[in-house]
Amino acid sequence: MKRDFIALLCLSCGLLVATSSFAQKNITLREDNIDDVLKDMTVEEKVTLLVGASGDLVPGAAGYTHAIPRLGIPMTVLADGPAGLRIQPKREGSDQTFYCTGFPTSTLLASSWDQELVETVTTAMGNEVLEYGVDVLLAPGMNLHRNPLCGRNFEYYSEDPLLSGKMAAAYIRGVQSNGVGTSAKHYAANNQETNRLENDARVSNRALRELYLKNFEIAVKEGKPWTVMSSYNKLNGDYTQQKHGLLTTVLRDEWGFDGIVMTDWGVKEGTVKAAKAGNDLMESGRQVEIDRLLAAVNSGEITQEELDRNVRRMLQYIVKTPHFKGYKHSNKPDLKAHAQVARKAAEESIILLRNEYNTLPLKGNEKVALYGITSVDFVGIGTGSGEVNTEHIANMQEAMTAAGFTLDENLVEYYRSCYATQTATEKMEGSAIDKRHRPEPTLSAKAIERQAKDNDVAVVVIGRIAGEGADRTVKDDFELTAIERELLQNISMSYHKELKQVVVVLNIVGVIETASWKHMVDAIVLPWAPGQEGAHAVADILKGKVNPSGKLPMTFPINYMDILTSYTFPYNWEMTKGKKGERKNVDYTQYYEGIDVGYRHFQSDPDVEVSYPFGYGLSYTTFAYGKPSVKATADGIKATVTVTNTGKVAGREVVEMYVSAPAGGLVKPVRELKAFGKTKLLAPGASETLTFEVSAYELASFNEKSSAWETASGKYEVLFGASVADIRATATFKMSKEQAWKVHDVLGKK
Ligand code: GLC
Repeated sequence: MKRDFIALLCLSCGLLVATSSFAQKNITLREDNIDDVLKDMTVEEKVTLLVGASGDLVPGAAGYTHAIPRLGIPMTVLADGPAGLRIQPKREGSDQTFYCTGFPTSTLLASSWDQELVETVTTAMGNEVLEYGVDVLLAPGMNLHRNPLCGRNFEYYSEDPLLSGKMAAAYIRGVQSNGVGTSAKHYAANNQETNRLENDARVSNRALRELYLKNFEIAVKEGKPWTVMSSYNKLNGDYTQQKHGLLTTVLRDEWGFDGIVMTDWGVKEGTVKAAKAGNDLMESGRQVEIDRLLAAVNSGEITQEELDRNVRRMLQYIVKTPHFKGYKHSNKPDLKAHAQVARKAAEESIILLRNEYNTLPLKGNEKVALYGITSVDFVGIGTGSGEVNTEHIANMQEAMTAAGFTLDENLVEYYRSCYATQTATEKMEGSAIDKRHRPEPTLSAKAIERQAKDNDVAVVVIGRIAGEGADRTVKDDFELTAIERELLQNISMSYHKELKQVVVVLNIVGVIETASWKHMVDAIVLPWAPGQEGAHAVADILKGKVNPSGKLPMTFPINYMDILTSYTFPYNWEMTKGKKGERKNVDYTQYYEGIDVGYRHFQSDPDVEVSYPFGYGLSYTTFAYGKPSVKATADGIKATVTVTNTGKVAGREVVEMYVSAPAGGLVKPVRELKAFGKTKLLAPGASETLTFEVSAYELASFNEKSSAWETASGKYEVLFGASVADIRATATFKMSKEQAWKVHDVLGKK
């Protein structure tokens, strides 16, 4: 009896397997049979595809998607950026290395105001993604610079959504030109690192639409990223990864995004809510998320349509990937060629902030006293997942020497030994030094007096580093440390007494205070964190081999508290104390300022001066702007302006086009950036006419009451500026009729 029962049992199991395998045709995924494959997938297979996998196909990659061999679905590989591909440089059992190029960080790329340049950089970067066997680069990082102290600002572009969006779109196009994907992140309103997993950003619809979503809108429409990464934080009470209005209504229905949305790298309770909201992939992926999704499908909480919608998008993503196409990656990208791309990009982006008495360029044969511990420990890139494992980061000592300058050897030795002592102590204590300001070694005024006699010029490198997981502080970070201030004072006094000049290099990952000390020095060069070759680019600019053409993508305020958002930003650690859940600017951040961020605020309040305005940057030459013309087009305006090099050396000029719009029932910024361009290299006396086209939609402001973009009728002013505060030419045009574009009101608190 028993034997018969067992036989029956085996038979029925066999039948079960047979029927299920009979039901599954084991078809192989192709680009043109996604729906057939979808029909053939079991629920378990479908759910598995919606949750990240772990693997070691590419050591150091951030994450993976699951393979389903039965259906010819490969594992795909996701790895970090944005200043370059982030993977492990060495592998067990292989004597090959897997270094990647450390390109200029995003804030420096944005300082170029040159979309073509950004595309060139990321075409090279995307080649490393392809050749190292990665399918998606988890970049661009593109959250707005709401406040200068956000720890990840170096991974982001600007305080202005147009500049940020255009840079991100160019970044995406360049990377994806290699047949690999990108991930526009972190969507959205992830503007602080403090309590980043839980912070609730409370933002008005207008500020969201005009600022915090506008750059993503431009990037999605003009870059067409394969993926978007939802952020960790909440937005108006809901986790962004669970906010249907954000991930489906706005991103897909309004903007036409057709890729996949993945979470940032963390498991939250609301897996099911996230899947239903349109978050297709849960990274980094845990079994608990598969279990939750399976239970929800079986209970009907996730409908078959919702499940198939997300899985279809995953399959549409997978068929685009090099892994699906069986690309045989070489593991040998041309790093030498890419290093040159990185250097040229830094040269085209570095900003000259001050150049009194034409201190710069130097002649190139000067004896240089090179000051600052950062002249040795040069900040190529910030910290966290945005770091790149490069073979080498050039520092200022080697770059200035390579450029032909003679360095004061005593100082070279002094800073090298200070660095060696500091790092040895770190190793001993196991303490990762607070690298925001590698402690600046002291130098006696006597020593500086002697150096001022022995050398021709002083170059002082001030460094700041920061990154993922922590915001910067005001004390000893935004502000100079006491030792840095004393160093600058003593150098300034001693060298000026010898009628010699002082150059400061700001090798920083974010805005610092400059107003209180800039008058003590003769020149200031701002390379931000310029990547592995950036120190060479700085040296090239100091010796005049390159004429700087970068301009500020954000405002340098005089005081930190001049910035409206500073009142709702956790600028010191004290603010993180208090009852969990109720800590202002930590558990929740109220964006009281609305759209008054950066120049939008400073331009509207003439009583508040700034140290350096948005869009500011000097050159070794000068430019004149001709009379602009503005014509109405079928869909907006077309403006032209001619720029002439009126100086003695060749140079490039960034031209910024601002618009002042009639109110149309709204309170509007004094002016807003609506287009920008950059001349080619103009020889002395040469001119170039730049043309700008702006649609009526791009001129619109967002009206919360009607939940619509509105372009008012009436008189508009077009202002062409060398910065937001340095307008060189203006014109006007009339918008005969008002226009409106309604959108869904789905971003508020539910
Ligand atoms: C991190 C970052 C994100 C990164 C991801 C994978 O938490 O927020 O930018 O791409 O995890 O490393």
